[in-house]
Amino acid sequence: MLSLPIILSFTTSLAAAAGLSDASLKNYVNSLELDYSFNPVKEAYWTSLPHHRRTPFALSPDGSRAFLAYLDNSETDVHIQRVDPKTFAAVGSAVTVKGGKEAGGLVAHNDGFALLTNEALPSGTSSAPADSTPVPVLYRYTEGEQTFKTFLGGPGVHESDGLSASPDLNGDLVYSEKAGLYGAYFVVTDYSGWAEGHFGDSVQYISTNGSLETLPESSAWGCSHNTGIAFEAADAVPFASICAEDQGDIWLNTNNRGMDLSGTKISNENTTNGAGGESMGGMSGSYSNLARYQGEDSYIFSWVSRGAVDLYENSWMGKGYVASANRTNGRNVAIATFSDKQTMDGEQASSVVGAKDGDSQVNWITSGTADCSNAHVATFDGANALVTWEQIDEPQCNNIAMGCQGEFSGSYFQLVNKGSKVGEPLKLMDTYVAGDMVTMDDGRICWPYVNMTWRLDQAAGSYGGLPSSTTKQISFACMSSGNDTSSSSAVASSTAISSAISSSSAVSPSTAASTQVEVTAATVSTSSSAVASKVPASFPVVSSSSTMASSISSVKIAKIAHSSTSSLATSVSASATTFSTHVRASSTSSVAAKEAPTALADAAENKGEDCKVQYIYE
Ligand SMILES: *[C@@H]1O[C@H](CO)[C@@H](O)[C@H](O)[C@H]1NC(C)=O
Ligand SMILES: *[C@@H]1O[C@H](CO)[C@@H](O)[C@H](O)[C@H]1NC(C)=O
Ligand SMILES: *[C@@H]1O[C@H](CO)[C@@H](O)[C@H](O)[C@H]1NC(C)=O
Ligand SMILES: *[C@@H]1O[C@H](CO)[C@@H](O)[C@H](O)[C@H]1NC(C)=O
Ligand SMILES: *[C@@H]1O[C@H](CO)[C@@H](O)[C@H](O)[C@H]1NC(C)=O
Repeated sequence: MLSLPIILSFTTSLAAAAGLSDASLKNYVNSLELDYSFNPVKEAYWTSLPHHRRTPFALSPDGSRAFLAYLDNSETDVHIQRVDPKTFAAVGSAVTVKGGKEAGGLVAHNDGFALLTNEALPSGTSSAPADSTPVPVLYRYTEGEQTFKTFLGGPGVHESDGLSASPDLNGDLVYSEKAGLYGAYFVVTDYSGWAEGHFGDSVQYISTNGSLETLPESSAWGCSHNTGIAFEAADAVPFASICAEDQGDIWLNTNNRGMDLSGTKISNENTTNGAGGESMGGMSGSYSNLARYQGEDSYIFSWVSRGAVDLYENSWMGKGYVASANRTNGRNVAIATFSDKQTMDGEQASSVVGAKDGDSQVNWITSGTADCSNAHVATFDGANALVTWEQIDEPQCNNIAMGCQGEFSGSYFQLVNKGSKVGEPLKLMDTYVAGDMVTMDDGRICWPYVNMTWRLDQAAGSYGGLPSSTTKQISFACMSSGNDTSSSSAVASSTAISSAISSSSAVSPSTAASTQVEVTAATVSTSSSAVASKVPASFPVVSSSSTMASSISSVKIAKIAHSSTSSLATSVSASATTFSTHVRASSTSSVAAKEAPTALADAAENKGEDCKVQYIYE
């Protein structure tokens, strides 16, 4: 006879047939042994709150080879490990890309892989950025041997638009077999030319032989201070792209690569100091935010947002542009769907000056007072998608438009069919998303993570109270929609019984204790101490000369294009304080930290500090 709890959980799993249940999930705990140590935590821009450090993951078109890329614990060298797509165990030993500073994107091929990373140019390279600031670069390996290496920034790349570097590589790499092209979309800072000293983004296309293509669909400079990138392949250029910028919007900018009104406004977001609520994950995010439905031309996008109220004209941007205040304290999860790479389903976000509501068109997945972060999406098939996020039920959100802190309340996994939620989300305490979510040959969606105690209650890294951690083991988790070839329903039901029973104990803090991360009584470092190391400076909006909207006056662009530090202060002085951007000085700088109240003061201060290289944390 079945005991009551078993009958109950059995009933629950049947009832949940309309959505995801414990039976939908399979973990491969510590299946992948790494050759080198990996630090699974990356500090967020400005707050230093912990984010999962991305481990790019990809599957070859024939389904035979998977690869995982990870940054060495020393923070130099990227390792690429081949992974068995059935067992998620290592196949052979890792290939190391020496000098790589970030595992910024990975494409798997039937005979190897391509990696997007950033690295310092050899010393003595003419026209290299100062202080060995890394530049973006694409590597292709075939059967373990390097077949090409192509710089996507630095000397010789879009010189007439200015030279760019990528101190942090936030962005993504995709590949289209039909187009015969790799596409990379990443955050840059220019170190020469009209946008010198400013942060923006760049789209580059590379052919299969490694040549950097200068296409009309390439872009040297797009969204100002891009705070989140979503990029997905299409059958032809331009590939599908989305940016979150620091002026208050998230744009579908496939056709314009910029932040002007010719794009499609997905949402209004409250922004400040180069941040936009970490809508696409912030530091170490910008992956698996935009997914193409299998075998279709349609796409789905997922992000987190505080909503938008009280729209007012963004006079710095000009007519037609608005900024907004946030509706909520914590962030909720939202999705948008697109019938093709350039067409959003439903209405654009409002640009009506004076409107009370700036988010009524948003398709929300959550609506509570919890703070949601680390949202990602992948598609099971032509109609079903998996949307995931992490939650802090009682968040403390100390900083406008940044992340929040508090006790981690769980990872959530929601089945979505054609833009509508199906059933309740599955909640897990010991499974996270820390790398690309990949649709496997059997129809499941699988992703890598590190089995550790996950804490979101205080800052990490050198400014935080959370101890640093390293691991040599990667776990994988796979979700099935119930509409795949990996499990019969009989198997699924019996698994439901056992996993429903075990999940209650797995959730208890004692069994979830991690060997990799020790909870210590270390003094709690507040976010203000984290802030103390960062130097504010101002950054006006800069748009690409090639993607310029006619609505942005050429006078304004000219002013920015030729601004010295002092004229920069002039051009910014008329704008709101939120249009300034915080950056930190290079690690070699010993500039004293101070939060300046206005953009003008920021600029003046920055001028006095004589910072050479500035790193942005987003
Ligand atoms: C690489 O491929 C591109 C596009 O197919 C072609 O235009 C170019 O000539 C090729 N370059 C070399 C060096 O083969
Ligand atoms: C963001 O929202 C805050 C209120 O939380 C508001 O004070 C600030 O002005 C908003 N930022 C912008 C750019 O409107
Ligand atoms: C199951 O997958 C197929 C193939 O991708 C898809 O066309 C169909 O809509 C899915 N069925 C359901 C019930 O979601
Ligand atoms: C807006 O967000 C900030 C954090 O970004 C928070 O402190 C503030 O309370 C929020 N405003 C509302 C109205 O919830
Ligand atoms: C994670 O690790 C803990 C402690 O080693 C173990 O009890 C648990 O089963 C693991 N679970 C998952 C899903 O990773």
